[in-house]
Amino acid sequence: MLITLFLRQKCQGDSRDLAALRCVQIMLQEGNTMKKWVLVGVMMLTPYYAYSVESNANVLAGRVEQSRMVVKAFMGELKHELKSALKAGGPVAGIEVCSQLAPAIAEAQSRKMGWTVARTSLKPRNPENRPDDWEAKVLKDFETRQAAGEDPKKMEFYAEVDYQGHKVFRYMKAIPTAEKPCLACHGEKIKPAIASKLDESYPHDKARGYRAGDIRGAFSIIQPM
Ligand code: HEC
Repeated sequence: MLITLFLRQKCQGDSRDLAALRCVQIMLQEGNTMKKWVLVGVMMLTPYYAYSVESNANVLAGRVEQSRMVVKAFMGELKHELKSALKAGGPVAGIEVCSQLAPAIAEAQSRKMGWTVARTSLKPRNPENRPDDWEAKVLKDFETRQAAGEDPKKMEFYAEVDYQGHKVFRYMKAIPTAEKPCLACHGEKIKPAIASKLDESYPHDKARGYRAGDIRGAFSIIQPM
């Protein structure tokens, strides 16, 4: 960036097409030989470097956008099914939807996209949803960000990281706890009928005692690169 600005300044007045040639001439007339060749090299490579930075940024933006869409679809489908089940059969029927359908949607999305699509939490109900080290760190960061005043509804984090010996793109989006319907199954006062059904299916359940607004967990995506 600085180099480009510097060259532009040196070549003020030239048309864009001629700027490069003029600059080479100017550079060759000035400075010591070493500097000259370094500058010529930098000039020749700058457009390629700029292009590759730009196209990497486009690829990254595409990955983020696709992740957001998958999360939205996951959330939409689950909410819709949970709502109908709660309406038809109450919270006990809702538990069935969460235990059967949530993992099924995650699996279907994973297969369709060729990614890993999941939900996770620092206090998981299903031990299968336990976070790995990277996810645990992001979930803790989400809580720090919320404590600093950020709205968890829009909270996300993504990065390109090494994962099991490969470079991957990882994306997480916070899941805030709403009063309704979440607290019926994740709150501080869970009705006995629901609590006993949860005890039965999830003997290691940690996902209770939440309050409205708490971060319940996050969607987590791994895209191969
Ligand atoms: C009818 C009961 C019920 C309701 C209502 C409910 N959940 Fe759950 N939730 C469950 C069950 C059961 C699981 C375990 C699913 C599984 O086995 O993967 C679960 C799992 C989760 C998980 C995955 C992490 C974990 O703890 O295993 C998240 C995140 C989650 N719920 C968020 C929410 C949010 C947010 C709401 C409100 C929009 C909500 N839940 C409402 C029963 C419920």
